[in-house]
Amino acid sequence: ARTAAVIPAAGRGVRLGPGAPKALRALNGTPMLIHAVRAMAASRAVSLVVVAAPPDGTAEVKALLDSHALPERTDFLVVPGGASRQESVKLGLDALPPGIDIVLVHDAARPLVPVDTVDAVIEAVRDGAVAVVPALPLADTVKEVEPRGEGSFEPEPVVGTPERARLRAVQTPQGFDRDTLLHAHEAVTNAVTDDAGMVEQVGKPVVVVPGHEEAFKVTRPLDLVLAEAVLARRRA
Ligand code: C5P
Repeated sequence: ARTAAVIPAAGRGVRLGPGAPKALRALNGTPMLIHAVRAMAASRAVSLVVVAAPPDGTAEVKALLDSHALPERTDFLVVPGGASRQESVKLGLDALPPGIDIVLVHDAARPLVPVDTVDAVIEAVRDGAVAVVPALPLADTVKEVEPRGEGSFEPEPVVGTPERARLRAVQTPQGFDRDTLLHAHEAVTNAVTDDAGMVEQVGKPVVVVPGHEEAFKVTRPLDLVLAEAVLARRRA
């Protein structure tokens, strides 16, 4: 079974503050995207990594991949991404060559996922699951609210409190049987926030395996501080 990883990296990263597209921002001197690419290529099972770049930044991303040391046994492709994460993933899937039968989808914004987590996801797909997500239990209790909308400071009424022990915070890479993921991307047109959610919508089973604390998503400025601290600890 040949495995490829698709990395949507076309987001602006508005929540991170002003600056370059998020994936191109440096963590300890190396662009976040390069860390994410290396995290996928670190798995011996991954033979191809497809990056969905900011549409106006494909040349820049190609140049970045060329100028950083990457494993020789892995192939790398850059395609222009789209207006949403979902669209960027689809454009990456469209670029996959025949012969790939397992696909990982990994956020460029999760640069520090350990290779053991990547391998565990692939292993679960090899063992027969059609969709696998790494996830962790939550520290915070979660409330469902009636949202007041962007910019409003009115108190929001609480609708409910799901039992925390039954909730998981989902990470990437999410792993899929290729045909299952392709079908889901063709069938589902409403907006979703993760790929497994599309597979759920087409009625296929999705399973969770243990995620990892270091697979957190770099979203807000504080996450950059944490990411750089994790990298510094790894080098120590
Ligand atoms: O916005 P968020 O942080 O959830 O983005 C998750 C991932 O999706 C990031 O790696 C981001 O670059 C990617 N993305 C994309 N195309 C978009 C929007 C987000 O590839 N249009």
